[in-house]
Amino acid sequence: MSDFIKVELVGHPVSHSKSPLIHNYWIQKYGLQGEYIALDVRPERLEGALKQCIDQGYKGLQFTIPHKELVVDLCDEIDETVKAVGAVNTVIFDRGKIKGFNSDVFGFVENIQENGGGFDFAKGPTVVLGAGGAAHAIVYALQQQGVPEIRVTNRTYKRAEEFSEKFKDVNVIPWEQRSAILDDIALLVNTTSLGLEGQPALDIDLKNLNSKALVHDIVYAPLQTPLLKRAQARGNHTVTGIGMLLHQARPAFKKWFGVLPDTDTELLRMVLK
Ligand code: ATR
Repeated sequence: MSDFIKVELVGHPVSHSKSPLIHNYWIQKYGLQGEYIALDVRPERLEGALKQCIDQGYKGLQFTIPHKELVVDLCDEIDETVKAVGAVNTVIFDRGKIKGFNSDVFGFVENIQENGGGFDFAKGPTVVLGAGGAAHAIVYALQQQGVPEIRVTNRTYKRAEEFSEKFKDVNVIPWEQRSAILDDIALLVNTTSLGLEGQPALDIDLKNLNSKALVHDIVYAPLQTPLLKRAQARGNHTVTGIGMLLHQARPAFKKWFGVLPDTDTELLRMVLK
């Protein structure tokens, strides 16, 4: 049997992804034999692509938009995090079984711990802007970290309302009130796609933002989003989204290659190029 480990990122679209660059960098850095490639697969072809990868001897897969929720039902085993979040971003093929994990939760927490200037999750309420797939992983992470109050606000109110059914103690706030719920918070997180290259900037008034609040944007292209720039101008500490991308990749890499890799400045430089 070959020691060459093959892993594939499945998404639609997928060509923009930095994940192949990250994992192939680690394969080289740790002197491993393997390859991480990206494949564009439409949702209707997802199940077939998964079976094909098993047949072709892949060790595992990663998933990005729009597959993370769809993959849950295709797994033979899922862990507690996947059950809570409802999304899989990493699978490993283990003796004929498809085992599903979600490393986005880990990535979010590690990024804040590494770059949040000693941020304490228990310090105060958190406001989460958006109610999509990323927000699910983040709200679960916040609850795991003991955040005392979570306020979710989303353009489509109904989507935010589902959070109060799925997670305990989440306050759902109408999108129109987003600027008025910032005065007592410890953390503000943008999980919407607003601020992303080619998208409009997030429309939020920071006038009432607690001056001690940490502001985090999961958008990392551009690295300094308009939201982060405005928060910095007010003197708030900010955390960019690139760390979440790097840190979510670490436990996934460990599942397939058996090594928990480090982020380093060379990797950061490559990813930001
Ligand atoms: P992801 O899995 O990355 O979270 P998603 O599930 O498509 O992606 O979610 C995108 C988020 O950005 C949603 O919260 C979406 O709000 P809706 O649920 O109302 O669609 C939010 N979003 C996208 N464009 C927006 C806009 N122009 N104004 C406000 N919110 C927006």
